Amino acid sequence: MYTQALNTAETADRDLEDAGKAAQFQARIDAEERIEPNDWMPAAYRKTLTRQISQHAHSEIVGMLPEGNWITRAPTLRRKAALLAKVQDECGHGLYLYAAAETLGSSREELVDAMLAGKAKYSSIFNYPTLTWADIGTIGWLVDGAAIMNQIPLCRCSYGPYARAMIRVCKEESFHQRQGYEIMVTLCRGSEEQKAMAQDALNRWWWPVLMMFGPPDATSQHSDTSTKWKIKRFSNDELRQKFVDATVPQAQYLGLTIPDPGMTQDADGHWRHSEIDWTEFKQVLTGNGPCNRDRMAARRKAHEEGAWVREAAASYAAKRAQRQTAQAAE
Ligand code: 3HC
Repeated sequence: MYTQALNTAETADRDLEDAGKAAQFQARIDAEERIEPNDWMPAAYRKTLTRQISQHAHSEIVGMLPEGNWITRAPTLRRKAALLAKVQDECGHGLYLYAAAETLGSSREELVDAMLAGKAKYSSIFNYPTLTWADIGTIGWLVDGAAIMNQIPLCRCSYGPYARAMIRVCKEESFHQRQGYEIMVTLCRGSEEQKAMAQDALNRWWWPVLMMFGPPDATSQHSDTSTKWKIKRFSNDELRQKFVDATVPQAQYLGLTIPDPGMTQDADGHWRHSEIDWTEFKQVLTGNGPCNRDRMAARRKAHEEGAWVREAAASYAAKRAQRQTAQAAE
């Protein structure tokens, strides 16, 4: 009885202490302080950041697949070099983000295994096929354009390692978006067939790109806490609207038609899109998009084939640590 009472009292003290720490933590967030890896943080803050940052990293790595598919088929050496550089950048973005996620306590192996087991997500947008060269221009223009819209506010995220990774990523994303838009300008000023190819790509990518920003605010399960903890600075719908307002004039400049006949411009100048097909979004998130199986099969195959590289690197690192320990003992 006494032990039980003692445990209950100790638990109550710990809860009281944690409640105090949580209040101090929120005061730091409200004061726009950066949270660093060694700082106290609520377990739920750590958990949601590990979730978001690791899924962001998975998205970067899986995102290499649809574009990598066109490196050997780029129409000129200049386009090939730009696409090579972009795909290589995405890999680097993935590594920065895995490194940022690891500061929260999970290992890269755990994070990657969760994705390969289908327990962690990557962005829905990468489950669509790249059917023509115009898709590569559209991905740079729209997908990277949407990523920039989403990632600029993340440079002010309350968690230091994530915010700092985003600053580097955003600098490279602007090149990605510009090279994509340049491809679209070239196609739209080209032959009728080239312009038709650009319009076809816009028709196929427009709605999946709007879904990149996440479900509507009313059904977003993480937005409230992510906003309270200043992980998110804008809601899913706010960023989606910013993206649409910025992109419609670009499509008009290209002479392309946004595939949304119901779109209108309101008195404030905002372009109001029609209802998004959230059933398609849910289908893609549950693994039933056009390319989900291909993407996961490609990632699992690459992970298996890369096992020897990881083992060799780990063995080299262990031997070097042994040598350094032996030298320090001399
Ligand atoms: N694709 C896949 N899953 C999505 C999604 C999408 N487009 N949008 C939302 N989801 C998932 C969320 O992950 C969450 O599921 P979970 O609990 O299993 O993680 C669920 O749907 C509910 O959505 P919420 O709005 O509640 O989730 P978030 O608050 O996390 O908001 C987000 C979703 C806006 C994508 C946010 O996670 C975020 O800003 N992530 C960082 C940016 C990012 O990951 N971008 C992906 C593209 S990266 C890219 O484009 C690279 C570029 O170089 C090409």
